[in-house]
Amino acid sequence: MNHFQVKTIVHFGADALTSLQRIENKRILVVTDPFMIKSGMIEKVKQQLEEKNEHITIFHNIVPDPPLENIVNGVQIMSAADPDIVIALGGGSAIDAAKAICLFKNRMNQKETVAKEVTFIAVPTTSGTGSEVTNFSVVTDSSKNVKYPLVSDEMLPTEAILDPELVKTVPPFITADTGIDVLTHALEAYVSTLSSDFTDAFSEKAIRLVFAYLEKSFRNGEDHLAREKMHNASCIAGLAFNATSLGISHSMAHIIGAKFHISHGRSNGIVLPYVIEYNANIKGYTDRNFSMAASKYADIAKLLNLPSSDTRNGVKNLILAVKKLRKELGMPASLKEAGVKKEEFYRELDNLVEVAMQDKCTITNPRTPSVKEIKSLFEQAYVGK
Ligand SMILES: NC(=O)c1ccc[n+]([C@@H]2O[C@H](COP(=O)([O-])OP(=O)(O)OC[C@H]3O[C@@H](n4cnc5c(N)ncnc54)[C@H](O)[C@@H]3O)[C@@H](O)[C@H]2O)c1
Ligand SMILES: [Fe+2]
Repeated sequence: MNHFQVKTIVHFGADALTSLQRIENKRILVVTDPFMIKSGMIEKVKQQLEEKNEHITIFHNIVPDPPLENIVNGVQIMSAADPDIVIALGGGSAIDAAKAICLFKNRMNQKETVAKEVTFIAVPTTSGTGSEVTNFSVVTDSSKNVKYPLVSDEMLPTEAILDPELVKTVPPFITADTGIDVLTHALEAYVSTLSSDFTDAFSEKAIRLVFAYLEKSFRNGEDHLAREKMHNASCIAGLAFNATSLGISHSMAHIIGAKFHISHGRSNGIVLPYVIEYNANIKGYTDRNFSMAASKYADIAKLLNLPSSDTRNGVKNLILAVKKLRKELGMPASLKEAGVKKEEFYRELDNLVEVAMQDKCTITNPRTPSVKEIKSLFEQAYVGK
């Protein structure tokens, strides 16, 4: 038996932010990053709330790849604010930090006699992580340069608000990085060992939307339709991987991001083509026993109208299409191109491999990697080809 469940209520489309106007007489904590204050984006949220709610606390210290100190600080602020509602406003970093803050606060409350039920509303301002509908949160231990994916259904947001107006200010390079993250989520969910007809439906739609609208959003941030579609794609891919988890692109990207401070989506973009090739595992030209992953990648090639006369051809063209999209978006094709020095890479390599092997996302990868295989994937990602 299997099951598929969506907990989060998703408000989407033009003016989705006005759904906040329903909130009355509540204590509210907004968790966000400094950019939201500097850019004035926070005002758009406050405008919806201020008339009917007296107690609004803003915690705006979240930095990209939120470190544990951000979480500890946030728990203290949450204890003082005692909110009924937590609103996370920002990219994956702000949403993940807010989730982790609520999780740790909740664990502390469980030691008390009466635990307070807090409503969590996620308002993403990037179209990438899908964190607004997932039970994942990625926090960073900066002292060890390691990222930890936390997984708990307690962190599933109660509501998500997908307002395309909020993503129009995302600069082209972040649009590219976050968009490739969406593609990686959808592709990894599609071939995950936990994929099902239900999650495949979400993955397929997200992949189609990325190929149709990511480049348009990158070229013209004001393209409302493209922004709206990418925002939806991000959330839809999140719905898929919340049920399936991810694969070794993410295992590798997590440690690449933590060690070399390359953004999450960019790290995924570098490793993704090699991971597709590895998972498909197409050997000699005469072999006709294709893996399930190979067949599914070929199905995606067909869905995208790429030449796919057979499975081998479909996989090859999907890899080429991913590389082409990455190039159009001006993204680096290797760790070397992303600025990682050779000595640094080889000094860290054994540790990269060890951490990626232990990452939770490795468990659901369609092919179980050996240490040697992961090492080879990192080496390919270093030089690119
Ligand atoms: N929880 C999950 O399911 C999940 C999945 C994938 C990745 N992640 C994690 O999420 C984090 C990455 O999140 P992200 O890619 O959304 O980036 P981010 O939240 O780190 O933001 C990147 C930068 O974009 C800026 N930004 C955000 N919104 C903007 C806007 N509207 N206009 C202009 N600038 C804006 C931020 O201020 C920041 O400087 C990583 O820590 C990654 O590990 C989580
Ligand atoms: Fe991701």
